[in-house]
Amino acid sequence: MDAHEIRNSYLAFLERNGHTVIPRAPLVPRGDASTLFNGSGMQSLLPYLLGAEHPAGSRLVDSQPCVRAQDIDDVGDNRHTTFFEMLGNWSLGDYFKETQIRQFLTFLVDIVGLDPEKIYVTCFMGDEANGIPEDDEAASIWQTLFAERGVSNGIARIGSQADGDARGVRPGERIFFYDGGENWWSRGGSLEGTPIGDPCGPDSEVFFDFGSEHQDPTFGLAHPASDGGQFMEIGNQVFMQYRRLDDGSFEELARRNVDFGGGLERIAAASLGSDDVFRISLLWPIIECLQQLTGRRYEDETAAMRIIADHLRGATFLAVDGVVPSNKEQGYVMRRLLRRAIRLALSLGLTENFFSVIVPVIAELYADDFPEVAASRDEVIAVLVKEEKSFRRTLAAGLDMVAGYAGHVMSGRDVFRLSDTSGFPKELTIEEAARLGVEVAPDWAAEFDEALQEQRVRSRGATRLGAAGLPGGAQA
Ligand code: ALA
Repeated sequence: MDAHEIRNSYLAFLERNGHTVIPRAPLVPRGDASTLFNGSGMQSLLPYLLGAEHPAGSRLVDSQPCVRAQDIDDVGDNRHTTFFEMLGNWSLGDYFKETQIRQFLTFLVDIVGLDPEKIYVTCFMGDEANGIPEDDEAASIWQTLFAERGVSNGIARIGSQADGDARGVRPGERIFFYDGGENWWSRGGSLEGTPIGDPCGPDSEVFFDFGSEHQDPTFGLAHPASDGGQFMEIGNQVFMQYRRLDDGSFEELARRNVDFGGGLERIAAASLGSDDVFRISLLWPIIECLQQLTGRRYEDETAAMRIIADHLRGATFLAVDGVVPSNKEQGYVMRRLLRRAIRLALSLGLTENFFSVIVPVIAELYADDFPEVAASRDEVIAVLVKEEKSFRRTLAAGLDMVAGYAGHVMSGRDVFRLSDTSGFPKELTIEEAARLGVEVAPDWAAEFDEALQEQRVRSRGATRLGAAGLPGGAQA
């Protein structure tokens, strides 16, 4: 199944199981300033997870576009993207663990067609200090379901991610208990990080095993919660049965909920049997277009092409939802995405404007499922191209200035001046200087930092004196 088929069969399957399909929420949460972007399906459902009645009932399903700007520096590997779609289903005080776990496994194995031998799961091991018991209920449901499918179902008590890195997986093991750093979910991540007032609970995560040849040994031994690459998380079932109180303790909610989130791109990668999410139907056409535009091969320019594809898909959806590049908040993140895409394209030899070529490819990919992208295609192109042109002017001016240093040695302060006055990124200055044969002082980086510090002190002084503060730097 490709990503489009997976999304639509998920929605249809859950609908047959009594769920109402709800429309996606916008990427920028309305009336919620606590976060810049919708980073998970449950974000817009918070009040309902705390007990309010949802007008569409107690069983809901959707596919929610999400942006996780905090992952921006991880993009370039085989599985991280700033923009992704989260398949989500919810039980608001309706069914609980047994139904959820069976439903998700049925979807993965009987509908998508994944091999149950390659599915591994994790459960919460309990937290004595906070009086929260081990989730042996979820583990025993998994044991039964794996036995029904004729695959091994051994249980391992791991603890932390580091414990797992040292221990690895032993023969027959399939269900792994981890601590509150791994198997607890709230908007703050871990058990300790749960925000006051938020719903939260133990979770049971599902991983796909791509094979031991994908494990990077620098991460230690392979196990589901390792970051080494062999196992990839494809879904998370949160049993939202607690709420954090003002004193930091956890109280049981009157109504127990399920909050499920599955990464569409990652499930599609598992279905494809490729651990590279950029090979799936929602990303590969963008990569193909980049190969054509640059005349370079994905195999040789993997990270750069992944970043450009991810960033332009994210920026396109942000523009659809009304974000425009600027120097603050959502606009700043969007500007970073676009400028980084341009710089990387430049490193691939692409000097022409190309956003107007890529956006239609993206609009086409979502034509059936998120028709708003195609409907606002021309406006999106206008917003993106405006930023593209303005950043290219900045770049051209900066390149001229670098060339002007021919025959001189560029100091760290020179590099800083270019970045400070014309927004010309330091990495690019160094790259361009090397290309043009302009010499750069060996200690440029230390001097650059010194100049940056001095400038920060100056601008703090200026702010105290009441002068207008300059907007934060917005270099890519
Ligand atoms: N809200 C859960 C997550 O984002 C499902 O992982």
